[in-house]
This record gives sequence, structure tokens and C-alpha cells, in this order.
Amino acid sequence: MSDLLEISGLQVEVEGKRILDGVDLTVPTGEVHALMGPNGAGKTSLGYAVMGHPKYQVVGGQILWKGESVLGTPPEQRARRGLFLSLQYPTAIPGVSTANFLRSALKGLGKELPARELLKEVRAQLSLLKMDQAFLSRYINDNFSGGEKKRMEIVQLAVLRPEMAILDETDSGLDVDALRTVAEGVNRVREGGMGVLIITHYQRILEYITPDRVHVMAAGRVIASGGRELVTEIERTGYDPMLRAAGIEEVLPAAAVSG
Ligand SMILES: Nc1ncnc2c1ncn2[C@@H]1O[C@H](COP(=O)(O)OP(=O)(O)OP(=O)(O)O)[C@@H](O)[C@H]1O
Ligand SMILES: [Mg+2]
Repeated sequence: MSDLLEISGLQVEVEGKRILDGVDLTVPTGEVHALMGPNGAGKTSLGYAVMGHPKYQVVGGQILWKGESVLGTPPEQRARRGLFLSLQYPTAIPGVSTANFLRSALKGLGKELPARELLKEVRAQLSLLKMDQAFLSRYINDNFSGGEKKRMEIVQLAVLRPEMAILDETDSGLDVDALRTVAEGVNRVREGGMGVLIITHYQRILEYITPDRVHVMAAGRVIASGGRELVTEIERTGYDPMLRAAGIEEVLPAAAVSG
């Protein structure tokens, strides 16, 4: 199968500080890959760099999307080409209703729907995600609970239907039932062939959304890749043995990674 996303030797700096230090990671078309690793490893930063967040400056390496470099292109263009990032901490946009947000997003993607169809689709997705229809007119993420924000990310995913989704800790803060609901939501979108890079700290969501491969990041790079057995290993032993094998004594603060 061809590669959907191919990251090689990626080096990223934020305000002159090295955050990613040679990330290699490839997700072939239609596969689900999990990205794990200790706090501060650079997982969220990788998601931002792939989407083109202006603060995350690529200073080395390459990001290929369907064989073409995305470097230097703005986030909206990456989104139009099929990339989607679900945020670890979704932001509220007071004044913008969920319905209007999704209408604008679809328009930006060149997938505009007639108003009636859009409302029908959003209503259907809200109900699949077990969210009240009142969320349609509420300002997006404004005063939503932690779990409601996470579900709303999946409502967006389902409405926008990207070719690949990077899901940054979509499982954190969810109760057991919500976790299942969210995972089922992701799996429904996957039936269309969507690729997934799921960032998580926990085994549980990977029992619902089965990864083809698992990668472990530490100190700004991928230090191990393998099958699902990696997840079990991490649960059993923690990250220490992998860190030592990679020659990382301890998880250094980002400032110490640069150099
Ligand atoms: N905009 C920024 N400004 C300054 N430092 C940053 C910025 N973004 C990330 N960093 C630093 O880069 C390192 C990696 O952060 P990142 O959020 O990518 O880690 P993570 O692997 O997602 O961690 P977690 O599991 O806690 O979410 C951290 O030390 C963080 O403080
Ligand atoms: Mg993070």
C-alpha cells in the first residue's frame, strides 16, 4: 500500500528551542497507528508540525503527504488536502455556534452543503455521539465539559470526513461509556478508509480502535516502533527500559534536548 503520511528526520523548533529532533514515522494509506510516549516527548508538537502550526518551525527533515511535501503550506491547505487534527485541549470560540463553525469549516474545505443537509448531518452525528441537540446552537466548546469537548472533536471529524485524522489524546478525561462512544465514532469514519494516528497514554482506547502499528516517542524522536505487543510492554514495564535502550537516561526537558 502507498504511504499516506511520511515523516522523515523531522526537526522542529519553537522560538529557537529544539522540540522535535529527527522524527521518522510513516502511516500507510488506511492504517491506524498509535503514538505513545512520556509527557513532554513531543507528540502534540508533532501533530502541530504536521498541520503547519506557524509556531512550530520545521528546521530539518521532510513531511510528505501522499508523496508531496507539505512544508511551507498553510494549515488550511493541509486540511483541504485531507488532514485533520483533533486537539488535546480543544479551544472554545465564544460567539460561534457549533452549526456555524461546521458550516464554515466545510466551506473552507470546499465541501459546502445546503443548510438543511448540513443540519441533518450534524444532528445525526450529535445523536450518534450521544450529545444533546442543544449543542447545535451552543458556542463551540464554550463551557463544554472536558468529555463534551472530546465528543465534539469526533462530531467534527464525522462531519468533515478527512483522509487522515491525528487524534491527540481523544480518550483523556472520558468516562468508560463515553470512551466507547467516541471510539465507535472514530471507527464509523474509518469505514470510509480514513488513516489514523492516535496519540494516547492508555491501552484502553486501543482495544476499540485497533492499531496496525505502535510508535513510542521520547526526547523529540521515535525511539521504538512495533506491533500491539508494545502497548502491553509499556503497561507492564513503563517507559524506562525503552528509554535506556535508546540511550536516553531520563526524559529531558525540551531545553536540554536542543543542541
Ligand atoms: N509552543 C511551545 N512553546 C514552548 N515550549 C513548547 C511549545 N510546545 C511544546 N513545547 C515543549 O516541547 C516539549 C514537547 O511538548 P509536547 O506538548 O509536544 O509533548 P507531549 O508528548 O504531547 O506531552 P503530553 O503527553 O504531556 O501531552 C515540552 O517540553 C513542551 O514544554
Ligand atoms: Mg500532548
